Amino acid sequence: MIDKRHANNRGDAKARAASSRSWIVLLAVLYLFKYTISTADAATMAPLSPASQAAAALQVVHWWTSAGERKAVDVLASKLAEENIQWRDLAIPGGAGLGASKVLKSMVLAGKAPEATQLNGIVFGEWADLGLLLELDDIAAPGNWQKLLFPTVWSLVHNRGHVVAVPLGIHRINNLFYNKKIFDRLGLAAPRTWAEFDRVAEKLKHAGITPLAQSSEAWQVATLFEALVLAESGPAYYRSLFVDLNPGAFGDARMTHALQRLRALKEWMPAPLKERPWPDMTRQLASGDAAMFVMGDWAKGELLAWGLTTDQDFSCVALPGTADYHLYSVDTLAMFAGDYSHQPAQEKLAQLIMSQPVQTAYNQAKGAIPAWRSPDLSKMDSCARASWSAFSKGSAFQAPSLVHRMAADETAKDAIVAEVHRYFMDDKMAESDIQRKLASIARSLSKTGKQE
Ligand code: GAL
Repeated sequence: MIDKRHANNRGDAKARAASSRSWIVLLAVLYLFKYTISTADAATMAPLSPASQAAAALQVVHWWTSAGERKAVDVLASKLAEENIQWRDLAIPGGAGLGASKVLKSMVLAGKAPEATQLNGIVFGEWADLGLLLELDDIAAPGNWQKLLFPTVWSLVHNRGHVVAVPLGIHRINNLFYNKKIFDRLGLAAPRTWAEFDRVAEKLKHAGITPLAQSSEAWQVATLFEALVLAESGPAYYRSLFVDLNPGAFGDARMTHALQRLRALKEWMPAPLKERPWPDMTRQLASGDAAMFVMGDWAKGELLAWGLTTDQDFSCVALPGTADYHLYSVDTLAMFAGDYSHQPAQEKLAQLIMSQPVQTAYNQAKGAIPAWRSPDLSKMDSCARASWSAFSKGSAFQAPSLVHRMAADETAKDAIVAEVHRYFMDDKMAESDIQRKLASIARSLSKTGKQE
């Protein structure tokens, strides 16, 4: 069976490698890696597992380095250890995986692919097209993955009819976290509309508290922005921007409003803005230096890891205008095919991740919800239940995160994030300017195969 699968992977790889798009990607990254390998932190690059390494150890690349993320990784590592398989951790720091995705490419091109990697979003289609990923069909079919998973997640882990990744959990990004103790002390209710938001922010400012925590790091700014786009317009328009890359959509008045809202929110943020990692901003919320924070619910995992309690120390509501919607990022692990000596251990890891106890324990620590469509709701706090209810409404209510690689490829994501960041940092830039730039990015990328 192993041989057959091996051959399938190879045969498919041959056909897929013919895809010119993949080769363009490969050539582009070859240049990138020359740079990345020389600049990567030596400590994070070593040691790499030799191809002959015993199958009882799996090297796993990921970017989960904060307290909450580590707890979630520990769930996976300890479950794997119970099966006598060692989780060899290769954590590359950097929120949203900016460093990890570069290091991963370096490793693959150097012929030193890890056995498993956090590989979120549509990018794994490119790796799968090159025949690099282990197909997990023989695990997924008897494991009933199609029935167990939300349809969106099931289609996400597919590439050309094969399962090429295993889903860990679903993060919601359109959360407004707030410091419950401050809100209770000042008699404030969580804002559900923008008018309420401004009133609450005004009172907080008056009380000497920074209303809204925010880092100037580009991906964090863009994470807020994509949530504002969803608030302005709902998932259909959101998709026409970030999934279809429809140039005309970027000139729309809804885009102008979302940009204006992004800029207006600066009034409630610390000044001057600093480029700080997201756990530092979460810390500001926990300590009461800031009262609200818009962030993916990995921030909740962090608060819990620090010993805080949902609905006592902090709580969450959907960002105004997004209560029905779910701006999502699905964390997934993919396995590199390699020489197939690790295949039994890789398949065991995939099976474990899809088991109910691991889905529950991992996601409790991570702040996410299980990828299962019918998880154990009794094990969820109010934030997780709200996330599950919104996601359960189906694809018309779901919006794939651009910043977290669910909507567009790395090139489009990076280009859009950079422009949004520039607009945010430069108060003199007109909305019409950035809208023109975004439209031209979309237009140029649509020439390489995207729809106009
Ligand atoms: C996201 C990822 C999360 C979390 C976050 C912060 O892209 O889905 O698992 O790690 O980045 O780094």
